[in-house]
Amino acid sequence: MIVEKIQINLLNLGILISGRGSNMESILRAIKKQKIPINPAVVISNNSDAIGLKIAQRLGVKTEIVESRGFTGSRLDYDKKIIQVLSRYGVTEKNGLVCLAGFMRIISPEFIRKYKNRMLNIHPAILPSFPGLHAQRRAVEYGTRYSGCTVHFVDEGVDTGPIILQAIVKVKDNDTEGTLSKRILAKEHVIYPQAVKLFAEGKIKITGRKTAIKSRGR
Ligand code: GRF
Repeated sequence: MIVEKIQINLLNLGILISGRGSNMESILRAIKKQKIPINPAVVISNNSDAIGLKIAQRLGVKTEIVESRGFTGSRLDYDKKIIQVLSRYGVTEKNGLVCLAGFMRIISPEFIRKYKNRMLNIHPAILPSFPGLHAQRRAVEYGTRYSGCTVHFVDEGVDTGPIILQAIVKVKDNDTEGTLSKRILAKEHVIYPQAVKLFAEGKIKITGRKTAIKSRGR
């Protein structure tokens, strides 16, 4: 009898976190539940106290710490350490996807270029409105009627990469940064896993700064 060995080259996913890790958790749970064709290879934190590390371990995913506190080298030196860990887990520029999930560090252009079109981020606003820090607070202060969240590819600008998915949240008259953040976060937990699924199924086509969602995969 000839036993044919079928080699399925699953994509390897690396998730970068700094703290709570609720987006990471929603992605990891969705991978299992929805059978997303991607291997959750590693969760990396720049902060050894990140609560998300424990959550990942509980979900059976390998974790690594690349401590940034007290790191005296350059930004690129630090990023090289992260790239090394990612590579060790097979999260490469050929067969990997990197998800930034509350990773509170600026990333070097070299790191971004290495994972061009293979690095995603979630931002708590409808881009291009309110890029950068404190997006929810700024939305409340500005008096905007709607805000939400955006999953996008990472490019060298601040939250400027091609947009994949967005979800809208209505801002209430009595909203505070906290109440709005909470409702936006609930939507983040829906669209980030959806974007990972679309990527894993090869359904995202990028043309310039625009993406299109294909109905069929690769
Ligand atoms: C989220 O609000 C996300 O939009 C922003 O950072 C926060 C991370 O939260 N990029 P968590 O660590 O995923 O819970």
